[in-house]
This record gives sequence, structure tokens and C-alpha cells, in this order.
Amino acid sequence: MHHFLKETDFSLEQAQQVFLLAKQFKAERASSAQPLSTQSWGLLFYKSSTRTRISFEVGVHELGGHPVVLNSQNTQIGRGETIEDTAKVMSRYLHGLVIRTFAHSIIEDFAAHASMPIVNGLTDFNHPCQLYTDIFTLLERYSPDDMDIETLKGKKVAFLGDCASNMANSWIHTAAMFGMEIVLAGPEGFEPGSEIDDALKADGLELNYTFTTDPTAAFQDADVIYTDVWVSMGDEAEAEKRKAEMAPYQVTRELLALAKSEAYFMHCLPAHAGEEVSQEVLDSPQSIIFDEAENRLHAQKAIMAKLVELNA
Ligand code: CP
Ligand code: NVA
Repeated sequence: MHHFLKETDFSLEQAQQVFLLAKQFKAERASSAQPLSTQSWGLLFYKSSTRTRISFEVGVHELGGHPVVLNSQNTQIGRGETIEDTAKVMSRYLHGLVIRTFAHSIIEDFAAHASMPIVNGLTDFNHPCQLYTDIFTLLERYSPDDMDIETLKGKKVAFLGDCASNMANSWIHTAAMFGMEIVLAGPEGFEPGSEIDDALKADGLELNYTFTTDPTAAFQDADVIYTDVWVSMGDEAEAEKRKAEMAPYQVTRELLALAKSEAYFMHCLPAHAGEEVSQEVLDSPQSIIFDEAENRLHAQKAIMAKLVELNA
């Protein structure tokens, strides 16, 4: 069974096909291609969501399938039914399952016991659907005709803020996969952890990212500026400490001016203006945040369609 738990679960060739398919789905929103017809896909949430929930529900529908939206608390998972039994039971009804959860091991357990594709809708470790969307959004600008992933090579990404977060891990993994340069800047104590190094090694990828406490070093000559919330879901108990320590890492107009003049500002959203980024940067012409949000729909439709093809 082919799952999508991390960025490298598609080969470079398959990823290229996913971006081309996403372009096609975007151009033909009311397309007659319905690879999920007669299928039902579960969308299981242990955490809050706006974009992931809506884009997958609409995406399954547009591909001809039926979405079943589930919440861990009001299923028997919330009363202690095991992941193994839940995965086996859900596999008897559903043709695929998108999961947003806490520990990454939960989706790995689902994948080990399910006989349907599992799609990672965010864990504490990573967020690969967001990254495929972000790369698609960049390719729309770098290579609008053929979405050529070669155009990503050597592009410099500056990631600011919580460099130990799921979004930082996913950017490190994605940069290594597509040959991009990445410099992460944040306070001490929020540097990338050993989990992402282990994931890169497991894929035979080089550990070629850089971490610095100096945000200006990260921004020099950057092509893409990325940030994420300082308090991720699950980190609420540390909120005040995090906000105090990350305060020097707000993406401001002054910092943005150090990047290339054509650099893009990106954010997975939700954003907290005045914390990780200023309102001025969110509203600037360099900001492509709402294209990113829209593209969740097109990129995830392509991911699901590719999984259906690979598992046929
Ligand atoms: N970016 C993202 O995953 O948004 P949601 O938390 O709203 O799904
Ligand atoms: N790092 C954030 C991403 C939200 C899409 C979180 O996990 O809450």
C-alpha cells in the first residue's frame, strides 16, 4: 500500500507528476476526471483545522468521492479503542484516510494496519501536504508551463521562528529532496532536532541545512521567506515563554528588504500578525499566502489521485 506520510513518499518523478496534475486540476476545477468516484475517504482530526479540513472535504467531493469527516473525540478512539483495530475497521468502509494528529507514530501505526492509503494531514513532526502545496505555489511562478522541479535547485529558503516545528522539519526535508538551500533562524533551544536528521539519513539525503540565531544571515539573498506560528497546536502551555524568546524573529519589512527584491513571503496560515510576521508583510505584494491557501485544494486532489493510481 502506497501512503503519503512524508515528502519523500513520492519519488522525484512522481512528485513532478503530482505538480503537473495539480496544475491540470486547478485549470479545470469542474473537471470530469473523477478518480475517486464510488469511493469514500475519511478525514480524521485529533486537532483543529480550517484549510486542511475544508480543502480535503471539497477535494474528495470534486474527485467524485464521498468525504466522511471524523473527530478523534467523538469516535471510539476517544474512549481508548486501539489504532490497530480502528485502522482495520475503517479499512472495511473507506478507500483512503487523511489524518491530522499529535505524535507521528500514530499515523505510522495507522499505515501499518490499514489496507487503504493514509495521508498525513499534519503531525507534531511534519506537514507534507502543506509542503507539496508550497512547492506547487512556487512552481506556478518559476515554471508556469511545465512545473519543472529542476527550477527549484539552488533557490534559497529562509525559515524564521520555531525551527524545531513540524513546518521547519517539512521544509528541511523538502529542501533536501529538491536541492534547495535552506537557512533557519531562531532562538537557541528551538533549533532542528535529531528526528529530522534521522529522517534525512533514512532517505539517504544530505544534512545540508544551516541553523543560525541571526535572522539577517538567513535573509541575505533569500528567494523564499517562510514563517509559521510560534505556538503550535500542542505547545499552548509554553505560549508566553515562546512568544518572549521568539520576539526578535518577527518577519518585518526591514528584514524582508535583505532578501532578493523578487523574494516571496509564504506562511502556511493561520497567521498571528504582530507575532511571527507584521501585518505590513502579510499585506505586501511579495506575500503569496492566499494562493498557498487556495492551492491546498488542487495539490491535495493531485496527491489523492496519484495514490489511487499507485495503489490500483
Ligand atoms: N495550514 C494549515 O494546515 O491550516 P489548517 O490548520 O487550518 O488546516
Ligand atoms: N506549526 C503549526 C502549523 C499549523 C498549520 C501547528 O502545528 O499548529
